[in-house]
Parts: sequence; structure tokens; C-alpha cells
Amino acid sequence: MFPDRSRFRHRQPLAAKGGFPRKVDVGAKQPKIILSGMRPTGRLHWGNYTGALANWVSLQDDYTCHFMVADWHVLTTALDKTPEIRANTREMFLDWLGAGLDPERSVLFVQSEIKEHAELYLILAMLVSMGRLERNPTFKEQIRDLNLQGEISYGHLGYPVLQAADILVYRAHAVPVGEDQLPHLELTREMARRFNFHFPAAAQEVFPEPDGLVTTFARFPGTDGRRMSKSLGNTIEISASPEEIREKIKPAFTDPARLRRSDPGNPEICAVYTWYRKFLPDEAELTAHECRNALRGCVQCKARLAEGAVAHFAPLRERRAAYEADPRRLRAIMAEGCERARAVARTTMDLVHEAMGIG
Ligand code: TRP
Ligand code: SF4
Repeated sequence: MFPDRSRFRHRQPLAAKGGFPRKVDVGAKQPKIILSGMRPTGRLHWGNYTGALANWVSLQDDYTCHFMVADWHVLTTALDKTPEIRANTREMFLDWLGAGLDPERSVLFVQSEIKEHAELYLILAMLVSMGRLERNPTFKEQIRDLNLQGEISYGHLGYPVLQAADILVYRAHAVPVGEDQLPHLELTREMARRFNFHFPAAAQEVFPEPDGLVTTFARFPGTDGRRMSKSLGNTIEISASPEEIREKIKPAFTDPARLRRSDPGNPEICAVYTWYRKFLPDEAELTAHECRNALRGCVQCKARLAEGAVAHFAPLRERRAAYEADPRRLRAIMAEGCERARAVARTTMDLVHEAMGIG
């Protein structure tokens, strides 16, 4: 009826149209939206897999998932690593696809391809105080650990603001993260609340306050019994060959008090036993029993676990290899994921522009 009006509808601040914001639950029947991300710092290991990736794979059944390679975030702490970022991004995609992230069901994309993150980051940066960012415990820890006083970039301080933009630009309801990321999520919630308060929209609030979905087994042991972490050099990659798996497990940390085959062991402090519970759960109970009663030697115990792990990761390796052998297909998957992500991010930015009356 009024074709002219509809052209401008888009530009009008929603808030101007009608009083206070009403909450309308339009999404009640739609699956909830998830966003999560990983920094591309190399091939994923068993700890990344059990702590995050395996969980992401199953979340796909119940949520509309967005999974992002957080390549801009690498710049905050490792500016010297930029030449590796492209290759690591590709490796990360291969690991993801191998593990079962499904590009048909989920949106798999690269942060730096979606410039809308940067725009929202700029806007959100106006909604948070310097003091609030300086008090961020992750930031304080990094300064202490890396001895960075005086050498901190403006962008590093803004790390959680960029992370908030990553989450909010998809209007995510939930974010699967490790416990260490909870302070960042709290900040994201604060910024969503602030934006909604400052820029009320007529219908639904622009940003939902996202919940954290915390993964429980945060501490997954590496080959030396300490937390599996690339920086400690105690990892086994999910793409490791059967030979590599066997070689890495042979010298792995066990119960150090168990010196002889005839000594009873304590599986609770043994890395190998934790791996049983993840990769050979059906044999975990028997393993613990035989360990405690010195009915099984560590060499044999490890050899059996190695075969279990090889079998567990075989389908992942196969799928990964298939994608690796078809670079065109991989490129198409990456491009399509980015396109889908961009479409969502643009829609959100339209709402942001409408609510703010600029842009
Ligand atoms: N900061 C996260 C990490 O180091 C990575 C990340 C970037 C992220 N953006 C995100 C995680 C958004 C969840 C949501 O692991
Ligand atoms: Fe660990 Fe197995 Fe040795 Fe027990 S028997 S200490 S569970 S490797």
C-alpha cells in the first residue's frame, strides 16, 4: 500500500516507533543459537577434543550452531605468528570436519572474513570502561605470566570486547566454553544488557544475554600427567597416526609409585586411566580393578589403550584425509560457511543500526 514507507522502514530507529521496548518471544519454537570459537594455533589435540570439540559435535543435534576460527584473536598475543594463521585456519577446519562438525547443519566460518565483527567491536568498545577491562582476571593473569607490563596493546586489552562482538553479532543464546572463559562471557552479558538499555528497540531486545555452557572435564592429562597443553609439549594430536599414538603412549605418565609389576597401582592419578575413561569406557572399570590389584602391568595396559585410541580416532582421521585430498571442496565449504555467517551478522547489524539510529 505504501511502497515508499517500506523503503525507509529499515532506516528508522525502532525505538521511535512506539514507547518502551516490549519483549516478544518470537523464537520460542526455533532452536536456540550457539556460537563458539577457537584460536587457530595448530593442530588440535586430545585435550581440545574432549574439552570442546566433541561437545560441539553433539550440540549440533539440538542447536543452530556457529563455530568460528578466531584468527583476529591470535593477533592480540602473537603478532609474530601471522604468517602461520592461514595454514592453521585450514588445519583447524580439517580437524573440525574430521571430528564431525557438519557444514550442512552448522555454520563454520573464519572471523576475519566477517567484517561486521569489527564494526560491532567498535560500538561495544564505547559501552565498557577501561577499568572494567583492566580488572578482567584473564588479562591480569596474562600480564603477570608474560611479564608484559608496559607492552600491552590497546587491542589486547580489548580482547573480551571482540569476543563479545563475536557472540552478540550472531545473537547467540548460549556459548560452549571452558571455565577459563567465563569472565569473558560475563562481560559479554553486561555489554548486551548495556546495549539493550541504551538503545531500546521497539519489538525484541537486540541482544539476548548469552548463557555459558561449561564443559566439565576441563583438566585432561597430557603424556606427562600435567594438563594437556601445547605449551607443555605433552599433547597427542587428534590427527596423529596409529604409530605416533603408540609411540607417545609408551613413555606416558602412570602411577609413579608403581615401580614393579607386582606393586598395586592407583589408577586415579594415572593419565592412562583417564584416557581409558574417555576412549575405552567399557574397559575402564576392569582396568582400575586390575591396576589396584596388580593383575595387569603398565606396558600391557598402555598397549591396550593405544589400540583403543587408534580405533577411536580412525574415523576422524579418515574423514579428515578425505577433505584434505579435496582442496576445492574444502575451499567451497569455508566460503559457504563464511557467506552464511555474513548473512546472519548483517541482519544483526541492521537491527543495531535501527536501534542506534546510525550506520
Ligand atoms: N577466547 C576464546 C579462547 O581463547 C576464543 C574465542 C574467541 C571465543 N571468540 C570467541 C570463544 C567467542 C567463544 C566465543 O578459547
Ligand atoms: Fe596406569 Fe594402567 Fe599402569 Fe594402572 S596399570 S598405573 S592404570 S598404566
